[in-house]
Amino acid sequence: MKTLQIETASLSYPVFIGGGIRKHADELLSSLNLPMTKLFLITDEEVDKRYGEELYRLLQSKWPVKKVAVPSGEQAKSIDMFMKLQTEAIEFHLDRSSCILALGGGVVGDLAGFVASTFMRGIDYVQFPTTLLSHDSAVGGKVAINHPLGKNLIGAFHQPKAVIYDTECLRTLPEKEMRSGLAEVIKHAFIHDEAFLNDLLNINSIEEITNEQLNDMVYKGISIKEAIVSNDEREQGIRAYLNFGHTLGHAVEAEYGYGEITHGDAVALGMQFALFVSENVLNCPIDRKQTGSWLKKLGYPGQVKRDISTEALISRMMNDKKTRGGIIQFVLLDRIGSVRLHSFRSEEIERWLNMWRWRLEGDE
Ligand SMILES: NC(=O)c1ccc[n+]([C@@H]2O[C@H](COP(=O)([O-])OP(=O)(O)OC[C@H]3O[C@@H](n4cnc5c(N)ncnc54)[C@H](O)[C@@H]3O)[C@@H](O)[C@H]2O)c1
Repeated sequence: MKTLQIETASLSYPVFIGGGIRKHADELLSSLNLPMTKLFLITDEEVDKRYGEELYRLLQSKWPVKKVAVPSGEQAKSIDMFMKLQTEAIEFHLDRSSCILALGGGVVGDLAGFVASTFMRGIDYVQFPTTLLSHDSAVGGKVAINHPLGKNLIGAFHQPKAVIYDTECLRTLPEKEMRSGLAEVIKHAFIHDEAFLNDLLNINSIEEITNEQLNDMVYKGISIKEAIVSNDEREQGIRAYLNFGHTLGHAVEAEYGYGEITHGDAVALGMQFALFVSENVLNCPIDRKQTGSWLKKLGYPGQVKRDISTEALISRMMNDKKTRGGIIQFVLLDRIGSVRLHSFRSEEIERWLNMWRWRLEGDE
């Protein structure tokens, strides 16, 4: 097992990473020295089938525990589910010294974390991530639910007390979820670590990823996120670097409709566009053809569906949380591992986006 310590201005907490460590979750939780009068284990139905009951039984021998499994998928990050979980917490007589455990992917982590941030004005919670994508979401303390008008619009900053990451759980992930999480790993490499990116470029297919590579991806991905978040817990400055590929990615996700494209596939498109703009605006020396064909080999889409208009994507970007005063902030690279924030008027981005899309169509 490897341990990383996350240091933020408000808190310091450990991230335990290793294959099979869920079987020692009781010891790891005890080592945190939290009051833990009661535990409220929140998971989703898919994860519950595989790991929920096992963890519940292990913890029950030491603490009073209640387990609730929400339906799998993005729709669980709703105000109705949030209220249902608050009701369960009240009826189970959770108190200010109790602890919420989030067992699942980013959806469960965001939802359970938001419940923890608001129940009795905030109680402890611990993340048990089970997807590759949650190497990104479990660390950093951003928790949220969705509003029908937009994703993650209702949320808080609330750091977990620990992250217990059993990488063995990743072995049961469907390939598309593995690919989705890998996109965030690739993003971390692009913005911070060229050597890590070169290692990743040797991966030829999702199926061939070894346990050792998975452990390495989770460890390095979290280390990079920690390096950024510890300097900017509340997203005043360099935390924005983590949005590499996300400005267009979020717009694509929303225009396709949630569930129609994974977050990672949308981010992979966003990164390809950001690299195109980086090359043209900042002369970023990157072999985009090679990167594009590598991403394609891994199964990522190479371009946005034709029936989605550039105007619709721009309009989504204008409503993004990070857009201010009509200026769209883009995360670009002047080389791999070196980030530049660049502000664009919507007409400028529209021009680049059209150019990128036309060139790709020309290449077909
Ligand atoms: N808070 C943050 O900083 C942050 C960062 C990135 C993403 N997010 C959020 O994360 C969410 C996406 O997370 P996700 O991709 O992990 O999705 P997810 O939590 O919906 O999990 C994806 C699917 O995999 C299933 N699953 C989870 N673990 C499994 C396992 N070990 N074996 C088999 N199936 C398993 C789930 O039931 C689900 O169907 C989005 O809501 C996004 O907004 C948050």
